[in-house]
Amino acid sequence: MFIPTGELIDRARATGGAAGAFNVIMIEHAEAIVTGAEQAGLPVILQISQNAVKFHHRRLAPIAAAALSIAEAATVPVALHLDHVEDDELLDQAAGNGFGSVMYDASKRPFDENVAATHAATKRCHAQGLWVESELGEVGGKDGAHAPGVRTDPTEAASYVAATGIDALAVAVGSSHAMLTRTATLDHDLIARLRDAVPVPLVLHGSSGVPDHELTQAVHAGMLKVNIGTALNTAFTGAVRATLTENPTLVDPRKYIAPARDAMAATVAAALTLLAGAEPRP
Ligand code: G3H
Ligand code: ZN
Repeated sequence: MFIPTGELIDRARATGGAAGAFNVIMIEHAEAIVTGAEQAGLPVILQISQNAVKFHHRRLAPIAAAALSIAEAATVPVALHLDHVEDDELLDQAAGNGFGSVMYDASKRPFDENVAATHAATKRCHAQGLWVESELGEVGGKDGAHAPGVRTDPTEAASYVAATGIDALAVAVGSSHAMLTRTATLDHDLIARLRDAVPVPLVLHGSSGVPDHELTQAVHAGMLKVNIGTALNTAFTGAVRATLTENPTLVDPRKYIAPARDAMAATVAAALTLLAGAEPRP
């Protein structure tokens, strides 16, 4: 069943865990994410990034409609989130396509510009009933707040949240996007200081590169939404490669996509279980 993102985050806060948010590129991602959530018996967030929309010839509606339909048919609560939006035109399509929330990303801009753009976007989104996440990055940071080495300052974060009116803050605490190994080390003291400095939930991006014990500690320190994308693609592509290597004459995509989709579902189920219980896997 569909659930507004803000409600799902409130539930996670009430139960002491973090909500898992997973990136959808193709319909099979949405199917796998919901299957994994159903296997774990836990709520989940489906998120579609601006980059994924670009991949779909800049058309949001088809992939959003598929994700929403899969969410509505799920036996667990499923939220729909538009991720890393830099383009105002895309932002304005969120509510009409069934999204409950957006992440507005002005993190590559200087602080004052980030504040002004995010404040304006948040006002527009709130008027449409959307829950808004945004990101505070280093001025000129090449990859925004999640470039390696960049950190969010708690004092700056407090004034940023107050000035923008956002509902959740993505913070830079040691993770970075698109890691293929789980070797990131988070600054847990900084997470706790950020949690105390801002009144809104904290969001961890680039969580594919974060080992289980680090994720558990991050949730204990106050991280409430954990974004995972690359780990699904690692599972998917690994399974496709293995199947095609074993069966070099295979041409029916269903034969190699089905095990790859199962591999993504298993990744989701394990991650959600970890985030809900916040205990490391054995
Ligand atoms: O917003 C999406 C996430 O930050 C995903 O990052 O692909 O490194 O797990 P990741
Ligand atoms: Zn991200």
